[in-house]
Amino acid sequence: MALLDRTIVQVLPAVPKPVVQRLSSRYIAGAKLEDALRVVRELNAAGKMATIDVLGEEVTSADEARAIAGQYEDVLARVDAAGLDANVSVKLTGLGLELDYDLCRDNLEAVVRDAAARGSFVRIDMEDATTTERTLQLYRALRADGHENVGAVVQACLRRTFDDLEDLDNVRLCKGIYVEPVSIAYRGFHEVRRNFVRCLERLVGQGSYVAIATHDEYLIDEAQRIVRGARLATDRYEFQMLLGVRPERGDELVTAGHRLRIYVPYGERWYEYSLRRLQENPRIAGYVARDTLRGLTSLGRRSATS
Ligand code: FDA
Repeated sequence: MALLDRTIVQVLPAVPKPVVQRLSSRYIAGAKLEDALRVVRELNAAGKMATIDVLGEEVTSADEARAIAGQYEDVLARVDAAGLDANVSVKLTGLGLELDYDLCRDNLEAVVRDAAARGSFVRIDMEDATTTERTLQLYRALRADGHENVGAVVQACLRRTFDDLEDLDNVRLCKGIYVEPVSIAYRGFHEVRRNFVRCLERLVGQGSYVAIATHDEYLIDEAQRIVRGARLATDRYEFQMLLGVRPERGDELVTAGHRLRIYVPYGERWYEYSLRRLQENPRIAGYVARDTLRGLTSLGRRSATS
Protein backbone atom coordinates (compact mmCIF):
# COMPACT_ATOMS: atom_id res chain seq x y z
CA MET A 1 0.00 0.00 0.00
CA ALA A 2 2.90 2.36 0.81
CA LEU A 3 4.13 1.90 -2.77
CA LEU A 4 0.69 2.81 -4.12
CA ASP A 5 0.59 5.91 -1.88
CA ARG A 6 4.02 7.00 -3.12
CA THR A 7 2.98 6.47 -6.73
CA ILE A 8 -0.11 8.62 -6.22
CA VAL A 9 2.11 11.38 -4.84
CA GLN A 10 4.47 11.19 -7.81
CA VAL A 11 1.71 11.60 -10.38
CA LEU A 12 -0.10 14.37 -8.47
CA PRO A 13 1.63 17.38 -10.10
CA ALA A 14 0.53 16.03 -13.49
CA VAL A 15 -3.11 15.86 -12.44
CA PRO A 16 -5.07 18.81 -13.89
CA LYS A 17 -5.86 21.56 -11.35
CA PRO A 18 -9.67 21.16 -11.66
CA VAL A 19 -9.29 17.47 -10.74
CA VAL A 20 -7.15 18.33 -7.69
CA GLN A 21 -9.81 20.91 -6.80
CA ARG A 22 -12.50 18.21 -6.98
CA LEU A 23 -10.33 15.90 -4.84
CA SER A 24 -9.66 18.55 -2.21
CA SER A 25 -13.09 20.19 -2.14
CA ARG A 26 -14.36 18.20 0.81
CA TYR A 27 -11.24 18.97 2.85
CA ILE A 28 -11.06 22.71 2.12
CA ALA A 29 -13.89 25.22 2.64
CA GLY A 30 -13.00 27.22 -0.48
CA ALA A 31 -10.90 30.18 -1.62
CA LYS A 32 -12.71 32.97 0.27
CA LEU A 33 -13.44 33.81 3.89
CA GLU A 34 -17.16 33.70 2.96
CA ASP A 35 -16.68 30.01 2.06
CA ALA A 36 -15.20 29.30 5.48
CA LEU A 37 -17.98 31.20 7.27
CA ARG A 38 -20.64 29.28 5.32
CA VAL A 39 -19.03 25.95 6.29
CA VAL A 40 -18.70 27.02 9.94
CA ARG A 41 -22.37 28.04 9.99
CA GLU A 42 -23.33 24.56 8.74
CA LEU A 43 -21.06 22.88 11.30
CA ASN A 44 -22.45 24.99 14.15
CA ALA A 45 -25.99 24.08 13.08
CA ALA A 46 -24.94 20.42 13.41
CA GLY A 47 -23.65 21.02 16.96
CA LYS A 48 -19.95 21.18 15.96
CA MET A 49 -17.48 23.95 16.78
CA ALA A 50 -14.78 25.02 14.32
CA THR A 51 -11.24 26.30 14.08
CA ILE A 52 -10.39 28.30 10.95
CA ASP A 53 -7.03 28.03 9.22
CA VAL A 54 -5.99 30.59 6.60
CA LEU A 55 -4.03 28.63 4.03
CA GLY A 56 -0.72 30.26 3.24
CA GLU A 57 2.49 29.21 1.58
CA GLU A 58 6.02 30.13 2.54
CA VAL A 59 6.22 33.81 3.43
CA THR A 60 9.31 35.60 2.12
CA SER A 61 8.95 39.07 3.63
CA ALA A 62 7.89 40.77 6.85
CA ASP A 63 5.04 42.45 4.93
CA GLU A 64 3.65 39.08 3.82
CA ALA A 65 3.81 37.77 7.38
CA ARG A 66 2.02 40.88 8.69
CA ALA A 67 -0.60 40.49 5.95
CA ILE A 68 -1.35 36.95 7.16
CA ALA A 69 -1.74 38.21 10.74
CA GLY A 70 -4.13 40.81 9.29
CA GLN A 71 -6.16 38.10 7.55
CA TYR A 72 -6.57 36.33 10.89
CA GLU A 73 -7.84 39.55 12.41
CA ASP A 74 -10.42 39.74 9.59
CA VAL A 75 -11.45 36.15 10.32
CA LEU A 76 -11.87 36.88 14.04
CA ALA A 77 -13.91 40.02 13.29
CA ARG A 78 -16.25 38.24 10.88
CA VAL A 79 -16.70 35.25 13.18
CA ASP A 80 -17.48 37.62 16.05
CA ALA A 81 -19.92 39.72 13.99
CA ALA A 82 -21.72 36.59 12.77
CA GLY A 83 -21.87 35.10 16.30
CA LEU A 84 -20.26 31.85 15.13
CA ASP A 85 -18.63 29.27 17.39
CA ALA A 86 -15.14 29.20 15.88
CA ASN A 87 -11.61 30.09 16.88
CA VAL A 88 -8.46 30.17 14.71
CA SER A 89 -5.44 27.94 14.06
CA VAL A 90 -2.23 29.64 12.97
CA LYS A 91 1.06 28.40 11.55
CA LEU A 92 4.09 30.26 12.88
CA THR A 93 6.00 30.01 9.60
CA GLY A 94 3.08 31.96 8.08
CA LEU A 95 3.58 34.63 10.74
CA GLY A 96 7.29 34.90 9.92
CA LEU A 97 9.04 32.34 12.15
CA GLU A 98 11.69 31.58 9.53
CA LEU A 99 12.33 35.29 8.88
CA ASP A 100 12.69 36.63 12.39
CA TYR A 101 11.63 35.28 15.77
CA ASP A 102 10.63 38.70 17.14
CA LEU A 103 8.59 39.55 14.06
CA CYS A 104 6.76 36.26 14.46
CA ARG A 105 6.20 36.91 18.15
CA ASP A 106 4.76 40.38 17.43
CA ASN A 107 2.42 38.99 14.77
CA LEU A 108 1.29 36.15 16.99
CA GLU A 109 0.75 38.45 19.93
CA ALA A 110 -1.33 40.82 17.79
CA VAL A 111 -3.62 37.95 16.74
CA VAL A 112 -3.84 36.61 20.30
CA ARG A 113 -4.73 40.08 21.70
CA ASP A 114 -7.35 40.56 19.01
CA ALA A 115 -8.82 37.13 19.75
CA ALA A 116 -8.89 37.89 23.49
CA ALA A 117 -10.77 41.14 22.90
CA ARG A 118 -13.40 39.10 21.08
CA GLY A 119 -13.51 36.28 23.63
CA SER A 120 -11.80 33.94 21.15
CA PHE A 121 -8.81 31.63 21.14
CA VAL A 122 -5.71 30.97 19.03
CA ARG A 123 -4.29 27.49 18.51
CA ILE A 124 -0.69 27.37 17.27
CA ASP A 125 -0.43 24.46 14.81
CA MET A 126 2.75 22.40 15.08
CA GLU A 127 4.85 22.18 11.92
CA ASP A 128 7.88 20.03 11.16
CA ALA A 129 10.42 19.16 13.86
CA THR A 130 12.80 21.97 12.94
CA THR A 131 10.20 24.35 14.41
CA THR A 132 9.14 22.43 17.54
CA GLU A 133 11.45 24.11 20.04
CA ARG A 134 10.78 27.67 18.84
CA THR A 135 7.03 27.03 18.62
CA LEU A 136 6.78 25.78 22.20
CA GLN A 137 9.04 28.62 23.32
CA LEU A 138 6.67 31.19 21.79
CA TYR A 139 3.63 29.48 23.31
CA ARG A 140 5.29 29.51 26.74
CA ALA A 141 6.37 33.15 26.36
CA LEU A 142 2.83 34.27 25.58
CA ARG A 143 1.33 32.23 28.44
CA ALA A 144 3.97 33.67 30.81
CA ASP A 145 2.85 37.16 29.72
CA GLY A 146 -0.67 36.32 30.85
CA HIS A 147 -2.27 35.36 27.51
CA GLU A 148 -4.54 32.49 28.44
CA ASN A 149 -6.35 32.29 25.12
CA VAL A 150 -3.51 30.57 23.31
CA GLY A 151 -2.84 26.85 22.98
CA ALA A 152 -0.13 24.57 21.62
CA VAL A 153 -0.13 21.39 19.53
CA VAL A 154 2.02 18.34 20.22
CA GLN A 155 2.69 15.36 17.97
CA ALA A 156 2.60 11.82 19.36
CA CYS A 157 5.04 10.70 16.66
CA LEU A 158 7.89 12.68 18.23
CA ARG A 159 10.00 11.00 20.90
CA ARG A 160 10.41 14.30 22.79
CA THR A 161 6.68 14.96 23.14
CA PHE A 162 6.00 13.16 26.44
CA ASP A 163 8.67 15.31 28.13
CA ASP A 164 7.34 18.49 26.53
CA LEU A 165 3.96 18.11 28.19
CA GLU A 166 4.88 19.09 31.73
CA ASP A 167 3.93 22.77 31.63
CA LEU A 168 1.50 22.79 28.71
CA ASP A 169 -1.90 23.97 29.97
CA ASN A 170 -3.85 23.87 26.76
CA VAL A 171 -2.85 21.33 24.15
CA ARG A 172 -4.07 19.74 20.94
CA LEU A 173 -2.70 16.21 20.79
CA CYS A 174 -2.35 14.71 17.31
CA LYS A 175 -0.24 11.98 15.69
CA GLY A 176 1.77 14.44 13.58
CA ILE A 177 1.62 14.75 9.83
CA TYR A 178 5.29 15.34 8.96
CA VAL A 179 7.58 12.46 8.08
CA GLU A 180 10.49 12.86 10.52
CA PRO A 181 13.80 10.96 10.91
CA VAL A 182 13.62 7.83 13.03
CA SER A 183 16.24 9.30 15.40
CA ILE A 184 13.62 11.75 16.70
CA ALA A 185 10.34 10.10 15.76
CA TYR A 186 8.41 6.89 16.22
CA ARG A 187 7.68 5.45 12.81
CA GLY A 188 5.65 2.35 13.72
CA PHE A 189 1.87 2.75 13.56
CA HIS A 190 1.40 1.05 16.95
CA GLU A 191 4.29 2.94 18.57
CA VAL A 192 2.66 6.24 17.63
CA ARG A 193 -0.70 5.05 18.95
CA ARG A 194 0.93 3.91 22.21
CA ASN A 195 2.62 7.26 22.68
CA PHE A 196 -0.63 9.09 21.89
CA VAL A 197 -2.41 7.21 24.69
CA ARG A 198 0.50 7.73 27.12
CA CYS A 199 0.55 11.49 26.38
CA LEU A 200 -3.22 11.78 26.69
CA GLU A 201 -3.16 10.03 30.06
CA ARG A 202 -0.48 12.42 31.27
CA LEU A 203 -2.30 15.54 30.02
CA VAL A 204 -5.57 14.48 31.64
CA GLY A 205 -3.73 13.48 34.83
CA GLN A 206 -2.01 16.86 35.13
CA GLY A 207 -5.26 18.78 34.50
CA SER A 208 -4.39 20.32 31.12
CA TYR A 209 -7.20 21.26 28.76
CA VAL A 210 -6.84 18.76 25.93
CA ALA A 211 -8.05 18.73 22.34
CA ILE A 212 -7.98 15.14 21.10
CA ALA A 213 -7.33 15.41 17.35
CA THR A 214 -7.72 12.06 15.66
CA HIS A 215 -9.94 10.01 13.34
CA ASP A 216 -8.37 6.74 14.46
CA GLU A 217 -11.12 4.55 15.88
CA TYR A 218 -8.79 2.89 18.39
CA LEU A 219 -7.65 6.27 19.75
CA ILE A 220 -11.19 7.65 19.84
CA ASP A 221 -12.19 4.64 21.96
CA GLU A 222 -9.14 4.97 24.21
CA ALA A 223 -9.77 8.69 24.64
CA GLN A 224 -13.38 8.06 25.65
CA ARG A 225 -12.15 5.49 28.16
CA ILE A 226 -9.58 7.93 29.60
CA VAL A 227 -11.93 10.94 29.94
CA ARG A 228 -14.65 8.71 31.41
CA GLY A 229 -12.17 7.15 33.86
CA ALA A 230 -10.99 10.58 35.00
CA ARG A 231 -14.61 11.81 35.27
CA LEU A 232 -13.56 14.78 33.17
CA ALA A 233 -16.25 17.44 32.72
CA THR A 234 -17.14 17.87 29.03
CA ASP A 235 -15.79 21.43 29.06
CA ARG A 236 -12.29 20.19 30.02
CA TYR A 237 -11.60 18.46 26.71
CA GLU A 238 -12.79 18.34 23.12
CA PHE A 239 -12.42 16.04 20.16
CA GLN A 240 -11.13 17.53 16.93
CA MET A 241 -11.34 16.34 13.33
CA LEU A 242 -10.38 17.65 9.91
CA LEU A 243 -13.07 18.97 7.59
CA GLY A 244 -14.37 16.18 5.34
CA VAL A 245 -12.78 13.31 7.28
CA ARG A 246 -15.13 10.79 8.96
CA PRO A 247 -17.96 13.33 9.42
CA GLU A 248 -20.43 10.59 10.42
CA ARG A 249 -18.11 9.52 13.26
CA GLY A 250 -18.03 13.17 14.32
CA ASP A 251 -21.85 13.19 14.43
CA GLU A 252 -21.76 10.15 16.73
CA LEU A 253 -19.34 11.88 19.11
CA VAL A 254 -21.64 14.91 19.30
CA THR A 255 -24.67 12.69 19.90
CA ALA A 256 -22.75 10.93 22.67
CA GLY A 257 -22.36 14.32 24.42
CA HIS A 258 -18.73 15.14 23.56
CA ARG A 259 -17.69 18.52 22.21
CA LEU A 260 -16.23 18.37 18.71
CA ARG A 261 -14.30 21.01 16.80
CA ILE A 262 -13.70 20.78 13.05
CA TYR A 263 -10.56 22.18 11.42
CA VAL A 264 -11.67 24.36 8.51
CA PRO A 265 -8.92 25.47 6.08
CA TYR A 266 -9.67 28.07 3.43
CA GLY A 267 -7.67 30.39 1.17
CA GLU A 268 -6.63 31.44 -2.30
CA ARG A 269 -3.57 29.20 -2.10
CA TRP A 270 -5.64 26.02 -1.72
CA TYR A 271 -3.94 24.34 -4.71
CA GLU A 272 -0.36 24.73 -3.47
CA TYR A 273 -1.51 23.80 0.01
CA SER A 274 -3.31 20.62 -1.12
CA LEU A 275 -0.40 19.50 -3.23
CA ARG A 276 2.10 20.15 -0.46
CA ARG A 277 0.08 18.38 2.22
CA LEU A 278 -0.45 15.37 -0.03
CA GLN A 279 3.23 15.24 -0.98
CA GLU A 280 4.39 15.66 2.61
CA ASN A 281 2.62 12.55 3.70
CA PRO A 282 1.94 9.87 1.08
CA ARG A 283 -0.35 8.03 3.52
CA ILE A 284 -2.75 11.01 3.48
CA ALA A 285 -2.65 10.99 -0.33
CA GLY A 286 -3.60 7.32 -0.11
CA TYR A 287 -6.59 8.08 2.16
CA VAL A 288 -7.79 10.82 -0.16
CA ALA A 289 -7.43 8.63 -3.24
CA ARG A 290 -9.26 5.71 -1.59
CA ASP A 291 -12.05 8.00 -0.30
CA THR A 292 -12.44 9.51 -3.76
CA LEU A 293 -12.53 6.09 -5.42
CA ARG A 294 -15.15 4.95 -2.91
CA GLY A 295 -17.16 8.12 -3.70
CA LEU A 296 -16.90 7.55 -7.46
CA THR A 297 -17.87 3.89 -7.14
CA SER A 298 -20.94 4.67 -5.07
CA LEU A 299 -21.88 7.47 -7.52
CA GLY A 300 -21.53 4.97 -10.36
CA ARG A 301 -23.62 2.44 -8.49
CA ARG A 302 -26.30 5.03 -7.73
CA SER A 303 -26.55 6.20 -11.34
CA ALA A 304 -26.62 2.57 -12.54
CA THR A 305 -29.61 1.86 -10.32
CA SER A 306 -31.50 5.14 -10.86
P1 FDA B 1 -4.72 7.85 10.97
O1 FDA B 1 -3.77 8.57 10.09
O2 FDA B 1 -4.43 6.45 11.34
O3 FDA B 1 -6.17 7.96 10.34
C1 FDA B 1 -7.27 7.24 10.85
C2 FDA B 1 -8.32 7.15 9.74
O4 FDA B 1 -8.83 8.46 9.47
C3 FDA B 1 -7.73 6.67 8.41
O5 FDA B 1 -7.79 5.29 8.30
C4 FDA B 1 -8.58 7.38 7.39
O6 FDA B 1 -9.78 6.66 7.18
C5 FDA B 1 -8.97 8.68 8.06
N1 FDA B 1 -8.15 9.82 7.68
C6 FDA B 1 -7.20 10.41 8.44
N2 FDA B 1 -6.71 11.52 7.81
C7 FDA B 1 -7.35 11.59 6.64
C8 FDA B 1 -7.32 12.51 5.54
N3 FDA B 1 -6.55 13.59 5.53
N4 FDA B 1 -8.16 12.28 4.49
C9 FDA B 1 -9.01 11.22 4.48
N5 FDA B 1 -9.08 10.34 5.49
C10 FDA B 1 -8.28 10.51 6.54
N6 FDA B 1 -0.64 17.42 12.40
C11 FDA B 1 0.47 18.14 12.68
O7 FDA B 1 1.58 17.67 12.46
N7 FDA B 1 0.36 19.40 13.21
C12 FDA B 1 -0.85 19.96 13.50
O8 FDA B 1 -0.90 21.09 13.99
C13 FDA B 1 -2.01 19.20 13.22
N8 FDA B 1 -3.26 19.70 13.46
C14 FDA B 1 -4.36 18.88 13.34
C15 FDA B 1 -5.62 19.35 13.70
C16 FDA B 1 -6.71 18.51 13.66
C17 FDA B 1 -8.05 19.03 14.10
C18 FDA B 1 -6.55 17.16 13.23
C19 FDA B 1 -7.71 16.22 13.23
C20 FDA B 1 -5.32 16.72 12.81
C21 FDA B 1 -4.23 17.56 12.83
N9 FDA B 1 -2.98 17.15 12.40
C22 FDA B 1 -1.88 17.92 12.66
C23 FDA B 1 -2.87 15.92 11.57
C24 FDA B 1 -2.58 14.70 12.40
O9 FDA B 1 -1.29 14.78 12.92
C25 FDA B 1 -2.71 13.40 11.57
O10 FDA B 1 -1.84 13.45 10.49
C26 FDA B 1 -4.10 13.16 11.01
O11 FDA B 1 -5.09 13.53 11.93
C27 FDA B 1 -4.27 11.67 10.71
O12 FDA B 1 -4.06 10.92 11.90
P2 FDA B 1 -5.21 10.13 12.66
O13 FDA B 1 -4.98 10.27 14.13
O14 FDA B 1 -6.54 10.57 12.20
O15 FDA B 1 -4.91 8.61 12.35
